[in-house]
Amino acid sequence: MFLITGATGTTGGLVRKLLLDRGEPVRSMTRSPSRDDDVHGDFDDPSTLVSALQGVDAVYLVTVPATPTPTHDLALLAAARTAGVRRIVRLSAIGTGERFGGEVLGAWHLAADDAVRGSGLEWTILRPASFATNLLREPVYNLTGDAGHAVIDPRDIAAVAAEALTTSVHRGQLYTLTGPGALSIPEQAAILGEVRGRPVDVVDAEPATVDPTWRGSVLWARAGHTARVTDDVTRVLGRPATDFARWAHEVGRHLS
Ligand SMILES: NC(=O)c1ccc[n+]([C@@H]2O[C@H](COP(=O)([O-])OP(=O)(O)OC[C@H]3O[C@@H](n4cnc5c(N)ncnc54)[C@H](OP(=O)(O)O)[C@@H]3O)[C@@H](O)[C@H]2O)c1
Repeated sequence: MFLITGATGTTGGLVRKLLLDRGEPVRSMTRSPSRDDDVHGDFDDPSTLVSALQGVDAVYLVTVPATPTPTHDLALLAAARTAGVRRIVRLSAIGTGERFGGEVLGAWHLAADDAVRGSGLEWTILRPASFATNLLREPVYNLTGDAGHAVIDPRDIAAVAAEALTTSVHRGQLYTLTGPGALSIPEQAAILGEVRGRPVDVVDAEPATVDPTWRGSVLWARAGHTARVTDDVTRVLGRPATDFARWAHEVGRHLS
């Protein structure tokens, strides 16, 4: 049995669908269950995690920042150990643990990743670049000027996660998942706008306006560090990562 957390979200929803399409047994965690495979689970209520994890072998772990310490991840890991879970695949983020401007970036993701690595469970950590789907939330606040992002199709993240959940060959691996090339936010907007026949509303914003927790990561991206492309998607899936234009044609134009 697989427990997919964040199962109503961007990547969790895609991992859920991939596994269901393969005929795998799936339990989809959400605070608002409505589908047949849904189970109620709230990271803020650890008793719900213990029930959600009964009989589960592997977990796709998606958390969103709630507090400076990774309380949601720690709650899930404690419940997973109690329930006898074997494997965790955690969604982290590119740049986690990098040093820039005198600070360690992504301290919250780093603490969670470290907890997963020290949990005694089989683990795989995925550190994706920015999601193509970020362009769907308009207005798109462009904090990074003309800096490139090795933007990734969330379907590729989900495909890698599904491999890591269902086989043991990726255990102990930390993958930095990127698309095949770097595009700035204005370049992404131009492609999606062209494909759907309507411009994307992009608003330039200054890093000073961002919550201090994230400012270092924004400055790191502005300095060009998120333009780096890796071949981790290809290594896991045996095919190239999907480029932004293809995502825009196949997905973006239908959702925006
Ligand atoms: N967007 C990017 O470019 C990007 C890039 C790299 C990494 N990431 C990482 O991706 C992760 C996901 O971010 P996202 O914005 O894409 O979110 P998302 O996965 O689309 O949605 C968040 C999910 O979390 C669930 N959730 C929230 N609070 C919960 C709680 N207390 N208990 C149980 N479930 C809860 C929600 O489920 P319900 O509401 O149904 O309960 C929802 O399914 C973050 O860790 C982020 O750092 C994002």
